[in-house]
Amino acid sequence: MRIHQYERLWLIGAMVLIVGFIVTITYGAVGLGITMVDDQEATLPPDDIDDDERFADPRVEQVGEDEYEAYVVAMTFIYQPDPIEVPANSEVTFYVTSRDVIHSFTVVGTNTNTMVIPGEVSVMTVEFDEPGEYGVVCNEYCGSGHHDMEGELIVHPEDEFTLTELAVDAPESVAPGDDVELEATIDNGLLEDLDVTLEAEIGDETFEEDVTVAGDGSETVTITVDGEELGEGDHDWTISVDDETESGSVTVGDEEDGGDDS
Ligand code: CUA
Repeated sequence: MRIHQYERLWLIGAMVLIVGFIVTITYGAVGLGITMVDDQEATLPPDDIDDDERFADPRVEQVGEDEYEAYVVAMTFIYQPDPIEVPANSEVTFYVTSRDVIHSFTVVGTNTNTMVIPGEVSVMTVEFDEPGEYGVVCNEYCGSGHHDMEGELIVHPEDEFTLTELAVDAPESVAPGDDVELEATIDNGLLEDLDVTLEAEIGDETFEEDVTVAGDGSETVTITVDGEELGEGDHDWTISVDDETESGSVTVGDEEDGGDDS
């Protein structure tokens, strides 16, 4: 059978197009790493979020030398934590779930983008090579505040990144003769030991203490001040470590409940 030259050209052209379509579709489905939400994680009903150890306290955790996991909760109309902070040159796996309706977790200017469906956990692993700041936006219509739903992702220079948390347990008032005890607990979320200087200020007195907090551990430092030396009245205190600061005020000789041991 003789095929006319033009017909042959059209046939070849059509074949090339068909193969091209198949290649692009296959590449889009497999090559780009695009997956369906929750084809790897178990379901998580929104009511169980507060009992789930990953999402009850949304946070970033170090899981390997340059590997981190971020547990993010989306809800009308915020993301938690906000900002999400990670170091550069790291591989971050995001686990994102929703407390209420369908949102998205879209990191502006990157190809990090997933639907966030209540009951499901979306998982994405992203590598960050350079420090920078990114907006996180929601691109699934989720209600009246949808256009305001935004968060922030900060990629810090590697050597400036810490996962330090400071909590201070301090009395509101003490009797005039009693000591004022400030209990500072430093949490180190990194896997490496953390060497820091704790600085405290109360009234006119200042304190400094070098503390080593083991990787993935915590240390408590107690600062004791003589209430008599402080004198009666209100005294502001500030405790800081790394870039974390806590402050408050303690009353020495509060008439209402401070003098209960006399
Ligand atoms: Cu959340 Cu739109």
